[in-house]
Amino acid sequence: MKFFLDTANIAEIEEAASWGVLSGVTTNPTLYAREGGKLAGFHAHLKRICEIVDGPVSGETVGLARDEIVREAQELSAIAPNLVVKVPTMPEGLAATKVLASMGISVNMTLCFSVPQALLAARAGARYVSPFVGRFDDISEDGVDQLGQIVAALANYDFRHEVEVIAASIRSASHVTKAALLGADIATVPFAVLKNLVKHPLTDRGLESFLADWEKVKNA
Ligand code: G3P
Repeated sequence: MKFFLDTANIAEIEEAASWGVLSGVTTNPTLYAREGGKLAGFHAHLKRICEIVDGPVSGETVGLARDEIVREAQELSAIAPNLVVKVPTMPEGLAATKVLASMGISVNMTLCFSVPQALLAARAGARYVSPFVGRFDDISEDGVDQLGQIVAALANYDFRHEVEVIAASIRSASHVTKAALLGADIATVPFAVLKNLVKHPLTDRGLESFLADWEKVKNA
């Protein structure tokens, strides 16, 4: 499984990249707004992220009509070779994805909450499909189960090799574990979750005792 960071925060991205485990970044309008982002600086911000990350960086379109999405996507895609265009799962989004795929522009189809949506995204030519786990849990559904169904359904068809599943809206280490066991290709996680992934109380306790014993060795 590859790890993407789900953030538009430059410091978080730099920190995660320095750990050597970062394979990509996903952003969305909410994440950019959270950084105090302004429309005028949007492309420059994405360009900076693309420079830091050695892997795909998703930047989202906000248009609602096919041609508008395609135009926005072309502009976003010109920012950097590793820029992937995030397009919402909706009829106009599918139509735009079909056009963009024919232009060789990679699409991450986002806001995916069902097997049919994921199959349609793959059929339209999306390079990535992003089932939202946590937000499905938020409405008292089972986001992990939905993710598993999507991975399994895509595996029934040839396009499984052409589309990667990004487990998105990840809220915990447990979500990541379950996504990996289900065979999701990628987990995109907030920085707080990434930090939790590397931590375990037994690791901390073990390290503490090793260091304490080493002090004894040094003083013997
Ligand atoms: O970036 C898409 C997705 O990961 C959003 O997650 O936490 O806002 O539901 P969240």
